[in-house]
Parts: sequence; structure tokens; C-alpha cells
Amino acid sequence: MPIDIDAAVAQAVRAPSSHNTQPWLFERADGGLRLYADRTRALPVNDPEDRELTMSCGAALMTLRVAAAAQGAGTEVTLLPEGEDSDLLATVAFGGAADPARAALAPAIAARHTHRGDFAAASVDAEIVERLEAAAEAEGAHLAPVDSDSLRAALADLVAEGDATQWADPRWRRELAMWMHPRRMGDGLAMPGAAVPVARFAVRHFDMGDRIGAQDADRARAAPCLAVLGTEGDTPRDWLRAGMALARVLLVAAEAGLQAGYLNQPLQVAALRPRVQRLVRDAGQPQGVLRLGQPDGPPAATPRRPVDAVLLP
Ligand SMILES: Cc1cc2nc3c(=O)[nH]c(=O)nc-3n(C[C@H](O)[C@H](O)[C@H](O)COP(=O)(O)O)c2cc1C
Repeated sequence: MPIDIDAAVAQAVRAPSSHNTQPWLFERADGGLRLYADRTRALPVNDPEDRELTMSCGAALMTLRVAAAAQGAGTEVTLLPEGEDSDLLATVAFGGAADPARAALAPAIAARHTHRGDFAAASVDAEIVERLEAAAEAEGAHLAPVDSDSLRAALADLVAEGDATQWADPRWRRELAMWMHPRRMGDGLAMPGAAVPVARFAVRHFDMGDRIGAQDADRARAAPCLAVLGTEGDTPRDWLRAGMALARVLLVAAEAGLQAGYLNQPLQVAALRPRVQRLVRDAGQPQGVLRLGQPDGPPAATPRRPVDAVLLP
């Protein structure tokens, strides 16, 4: 049965992306798809090398593979067929046997949401943590749990330092404010339209780094599961793999009733990233800091742009 590409892309775009920029474009080619980075949606201050942009595209690629598997189609993926510098991040051919492990994750695509609130205090079962680690390994990355109190405290300090550095930078605040969008726009950090001007004004004009840093550090220390996602290398290919692994980890978590929040600030501040690497050596090159647990409230669904806007004919 031929694959319904529109339906698969509609699932793929449910993937997470930094600031909900959705920095991907799909193009039909030879019965398959080409995945491009849409660098008009880059975040030059938060993510000057497009590392997180590339990870976001990797997350969409993984989600596409899961959606295709649920339709019964295997996927053959070639990463960066035109080299590391290209906007063409991957080609996808459909066919062959669908991977049952990927197909089983399809219901979790709609169930996964970023959780920015607190988590229930219950710890995460060791068996589930092992499944999360295996999900990262299956996509060529590592997930290193941060369990000891002293390591958690040190990582929490770096998170707070990351917040302080970012909020002290008016350019970073202006970029964040620019991506605060009315929900109807279908992208960005969405909020009711009437709230946007006030929220943007506050973010542009007030350095809230100390308060947010203290809260994030608390959340790092208290996380039911705190983990660093990492890769062997630190090239665009590694970033794609990190994004694919991120999506798979999050889908496995959502399947188990868990959601994740991000504490990536010390990775987004260039001077702090090597300190995270030295702290959590098992992760390799750190690409993401995640806290996982059972959310304290219902999920907040975020908007997406329509498939027509991201799928070229
Ligand atoms: C590579 C990457 C980095 C992200 N970094 C952060 C972050 O630093 N802080 C945060 O709150 N959310 C972060 N997010 C989550 C996005 O903001 C979120 O995916 C987006 O708003 C869409 O919401 P959803 O995940 O609920 O679908 C990140 C997501 C990705 C893929």
C-alpha cells in the first residue's frame, strides 16, 4: 500500500523544536521525501551554530519514521547526502519492512508535550530509565542519568548560571520576545493574542535571570529523573542523531506516562557547555539536559503550521 505522505508529515511536525520554530521543510522527491533546514527560522543568539535547529529537524525526521512505520512502511534514511554544510539534511525513501518498535511509538506522538511546570514527586522506575537509555542508544546517542546529589547540585548551578547569562543579554531577550506569538500564528511560544504585547514588553525590558535561574535550579535538583543527552562527536551529523534520539526518548517517555522539560541553558551558553561535558562525562558531547517525570497538570498542546506550509510539492 502506498504511503500517505501528507499524513506522515502531519505527524512529523508534531516533533518538538527550540522556541517552537519548526525549522523544517519537506520536499517530495522520487516517491520519498527530502528534509531541509529552514534557516529563515534560526535563532542566531540562542543557537548561533544552528545546533538546536539541526536537532529539531532530527526530531521531526524520527517522528516521520515512526509515523511511516505505523502506516506499515519502512524508511531508508540518508543523512546529509550533500555534505555537512548543506541545508539538505536527509533523504527518506519509503519501503521495506516497518520497524515494529518504531510503529508502537506512534500513539505517543500526540501524547508528548514539553512540560514546564513541576513534576509529581514520585521517582521514575529504574526499568523505565533503562528504556529511555536504550531509546537514545538505538539512534546513536547516549542518555546519561544524573543521580548523585553532588552532581545534580553542580549541574543545577550551571543551569542557574546559564539563565543569568542569557537574561542579562538584551539580544537574547529580544530574540525570545520575537518568538512569543499569538496562538493563531501556528508557531513560536504561543499565548493568547491579548497577552502577547505585555509578555513581549516584560521579556524585552526586564532581566528575570535570577528568579528564573533559582526556579530552574530547584527543578534540576528535584527532577524525578535528570539526564544529559549526548553524542560522540559534535558535527551536524551528530546533531541530527541527537535530535532523532531526543524524539525517540520523549516518545518512549510519553508512552510510559512521563513528560520532559528542558534545562538546556548551560549548553546554549558557549562558555558553560564544556563545564557540563566535564561534569557528565558519560554523555559525551552534551546536546540536551532533560528533566522527566509525571506532570502535575494536564498537558499544554502547542500549535503547528499547516502541512501545506512545510511540504513542498
Ligand atoms: C533542540 C530543542 C531545544 C529546546 N530547548 C528548550 C529550552 O531550552 N527550554 C524550553 O523550555 N524548551 C525547549 N525546547 C522545547 C520547545 O520549546 C518545544 O518543543 C516547543 O515549544 C513545542 O512544544 P511541544 O514540545 O510541547 O510540542 C526545546 C526543544 C528542542 C527540540
